[in-house]
Amino acid sequence: MGNIYFERGLNLSLLLRKGNHDWLAGVGAIGEPVLLSRGRDCLYVALRAIGAEQGDAISVPAFICAEVPRLIAEWGFSPIPYDIEPDLSLSPDLVKKSLTSRTRAILYVNYFGLQQPAASLDKLKGLGLPLVEDNCQAPMAGSKRAVQPDFAFTSMRKYLPVPDGAVLDVIDNRWRERVGGVTLRRRTNGQLVRWRIAALLVRGQQEIRDRRVLRLLAQELFSKAEQALRGYDVPVAMHGVSRRLAATFDIAAIRTERRSVYEKLVTAMKTHPALRPLRLELAATDCPHCCPLLTDGNRLWRDALNQRGIEAAILWKVEQFSQDRSISAELSRRILSLPLPRLEALRSCEELMSSLDV
Ligand SMILES: Cc1ncc(COP(=O)(O)O)c(C=O)c1O
Repeated sequence: MGNIYFERGLNLSLLLRKGNHDWLAGVGAIGEPVLLSRGRDCLYVALRAIGAEQGDAISVPAFICAEVPRLIAEWGFSPIPYDIEPDLSLSPDLVKKSLTSRTRAILYVNYFGLQQPAASLDKLKGLGLPLVEDNCQAPMAGSKRAVQPDFAFTSMRKYLPVPDGAVLDVIDNRWRERVGGVTLRRRTNGQLVRWRIAALLVRGQQEIRDRRVLRLLAQELFSKAEQALRGYDVPVAMHGVSRRLAATFDIAAIRTERRSVYEKLVTAMKTHPALRPLRLELAATDCPHCCPLLTDGNRLWRDALNQRGIEAAILWKVEQFSQDRSISAELSRRILSLPLPRLEALRSCEELMSSLDV
């Protein structure tokens, strides 16, 4: 079996392929799309557009990539955590408890490409604050969402082999003009693009022939890219190479494949003695980024899987931002994210998973 990674590779022919003009619809943009480099840039622009000022509070789920609350604080706002349910869904009551007189917006996450339930979003909408949907890890649901937030954003490098690129969809009309008013340093991150193109091309070769030297080289190049990604404060525009490349993918086909692999993998994992799929059913609008599993000892399992070529990861470690006894902290101790294999590698991935024990 070839190794299984979150990042899929690229080959040169894709770089030369002609794109289609409809790719923004493919990533689920339905309002006014703003093309930026990273998910964090989208969040920054959204918060500035709603007029959040120094010291204003933003409600943020405690279960989230640590970079997000760190950046919100760095921008001068105050991130206030709210806990979530064990199945990754929102609790409107817990969100409500996090609100203060200075709260200016509520951020919620569609974890791993799994949509938040419409009934909870409806209740959040009723709180009357701007809603910002973080759909970083997957294409957005667009017009198929039952409840539309004010803003939604997606970070394409998490599910497409592109150098950078994030789309902030400004859905509610009242923010459109104000987004234009947020000063954008219209600069792009050329260094990030160069490192990531190199990394993605090496990964593409690895997918044909998985050599140790290619593996080490890809690892080094992805880590250079990660350094370049962090090299800018805010905000950075999407690079032209990423726009061209994004337009070459059939995003509808990618959604279909990811859903199908997820459903098969979950069926196979249902009877696993130690790794329990966190979500058995997909909603019609979900596009899974990975397969989140629950286990005791997620670090041991991660290490065992990594040694066998499956890049399982702990998304996320939330110790800094959440209370120790919260559900978010418990999730962080128990969750393990399994990258989705390609359809043709599914059977060998399932066999490996069932033969492993730690
Ligand atoms: C849920 C979530 N939101 C936001 C971000 C930030 O996205 P980016 O790294 O594209 O800025 C991440 C990063 O991993 C994330 O996982």
